[in-house]
Amino acid sequence: MANSQRKILVTSALPYANGPIHLGHMLEYIQTDIWSRYQKLRGHECYYICADDAHGTPIMLKAQQLGVKPEEMIAQVQTEHQQDFADFHIEFDNYHSTHSEENRELASDIYLKLRDGGYIKTKTISQLFDPEKSMFLPDRFVKGTCPKCKSEDQYGDNCDSCGATYSPTDLINPKSAVSGATPIMKDTEHFFFDLPAFENMLQEWTRSGSLQQEMANKLGEWFEQGLQQWDITRDAPYFGFEIPDAPGKFFYVWLDAPIGYMGSFKNLCDKRDDLNFDEFWNKDSTAEVYHFIGKDIVYFHSLFWPAMLEGAGYRKPNSVYAHGYVTVNGAKMSKSKGTFIKARTYLEHLQPEYLRYYYAAKLSSRIDDLDLNLEDFAQRVNSDLVGKLVNLASRTAGFISKRFDGKLADIEDMTLTNEFLAKQDLIAEYYESREYGKAMREIMALADNANAFVADAAPWQLVKQDDKQSEAHQVCSNALNLFRILVTYLKPVLPKLAEDVEAFLQFPLTWDNLGASLANHEIAKFKALMQRVDMKKIEAITEASKENLEVQKAPETELEKDPISEEISFDDFAKLDLRIARIAKAEHVPDANKLLKLQLDLGGETKQVFAGIKSAYAPEDLEGKLTVMVANLAPRKMRFGMSEGMVLAAGPGKKDLWILEPHDGAQPGMRVK
Ligand code: 2FM
Ligand code: ZN
Repeated sequence: MANSQRKILVTSALPYANGPIHLGHMLEYIQTDIWSRYQKLRGHECYYICADDAHGTPIMLKAQQLGVKPEEMIAQVQTEHQQDFADFHIEFDNYHSTHSEENRELASDIYLKLRDGGYIKTKTISQLFDPEKSMFLPDRFVKGTCPKCKSEDQYGDNCDSCGATYSPTDLINPKSAVSGATPIMKDTEHFFFDLPAFENMLQEWTRSGSLQQEMANKLGEWFEQGLQQWDITRDAPYFGFEIPDAPGKFFYVWLDAPIGYMGSFKNLCDKRDDLNFDEFWNKDSTAEVYHFIGKDIVYFHSLFWPAMLEGAGYRKPNSVYAHGYVTVNGAKMSKSKGTFIKARTYLEHLQPEYLRYYYAAKLSSRIDDLDLNLEDFAQRVNSDLVGKLVNLASRTAGFISKRFDGKLADIEDMTLTNEFLAKQDLIAEYYESREYGKAMREIMALADNANAFVADAAPWQLVKQDDKQSEAHQVCSNALNLFRILVTYLKPVLPKLAEDVEAFLQFPLTWDNLGASLANHEIAKFKALMQRVDMKKIEAITEASKENLEVQKAPETELEKDPISEEISFDDFAKLDLRIARIAKAEHVPDANKLLKLQLDLGGETKQVFAGIKSAYAPEDLEGKLTVMVANLAPRKMRFGMSEGMVLAAGPGKKDLWILEPHDGAQPGMRVK
């Protein structure tokens, strides 16, 4: 088949900007990155686009808890995400944020087109409202007793204990998870996107596109259940984009999130003269668009998203490819077992390519979950990458440098080379169809053949015999040429190894070069390409992942420590933002021996602090009193909630601790000099 150049836009789901990337996320970025690198290796014009998903209530509340602006928090998280991705060799052509001007414009444009097309309906709905925080509560922010099984402390949408799904208004004794207040019902006018108007188009798209079978089945079920109007509105306070014709109303995060794919691509087009946004997104575009996602967000990508695009006059994706979840050692990732592994924790101990290879070896085009069994991981990497692949070079390269002037021979027996090259279309087809596991098995079967050839020929014995020098040269050159073909096949999965091998062979590894001859070609001295995975490193990762949790649990005991008085500089002292605070509210903390939970009024701003002064004060004695607080202490997550500062008290401890008494002139918020 002629390999005519395609124009391809490929995306991974946009990670939320309120938490770190973990190995569950990495499956998708590795899967997409391999696909995009494969397309580029085949000479196609392929762009891999992503962004942070920066809007929504959880992000707004988390920033509030941390006492920072959401803009600051999302910028910080985005920097960390990008570093994690770069260190896993995820090669995005652009990484942006949904909280961007490009996205604001595109979201408004799409919304207005949908409105003008008659696809936006208005309806007054009644929703749970937190009277203390003055905000409507998303389902996940209401907690109460399950109406079915009566388990306490369940979320407003479904019960963890019995699995029942219900509406938050069905909960018994509902409480706002934000303030603890009892929510009330309140009316609000919302805009709805008319999804049912697109049913015929969606049915046809499902049939004509190259959707996975499981996905097509799922869509079939949803069509049977009937499509619903989709609420795309959220009331202030909300971190997102205000709806152009409705002040105080915001787009629900899931409206502008997929538009973020376009926003990020627009941002790339604006940076480059050779790229045209319309060429990829116009209705009659011949470019290809693919979204890689997790199975939990199929509804958004296969119903809402194509319908929004259609309604607003844009092209639809060629396909949406869903994958399953990652389990570790056969179970859901768990913080207590140390299997909830952050990308950064992994990177502190192990090379990224081990995981890239292991995921590739286990991935298929299906939606099945993938188990990262840590022992199998070490064993597979050691056996395939170190034992089969790198070994091929490490046991032949030395002879080329030492005995044959670093030059490869003109290979006489092309049997194995031809056998290797004959597999290129099959391997290509496996990459294209996301059957990476099959591709890895083919490649490793070839590596087995190459190793068997070297073992039989035993060049380490040939070199010792004067009349076998030419044969030894043939064997080693042959092995290194086969090694070159294998690493070219693996280049989308192991880009760093491929780069190192290019430096070693002094030859570019491209698909077009697969059949090249390296006769008389000089290669560099061989350097070790990959170390074995040591189980100790894996233990260190799970230990460190457990520690992450311990550290968060520790603060109550930390407060008991008597700090050693070290001398500090004036600059250190000047960094302290000491303020007068009024103790607006003081409460006992269940299960805490020493802590009280304080709400501190800083003259307009309220901060929550856990203070170890229970031995000296009853909560009711504290309310109304003043204290000095360190207002710029980084917030800390404690077992009981977030502590956003520290109060200062004087005295030797236990019952003898004193805070300030109200005093004329001392006002909340005032700086302490
Ligand atoms: O589920 C998630 O993590 C979302 N942040 C994915 C968004 S993908 C796209 F639609 F933006
Ligand atoms: Zn229940």
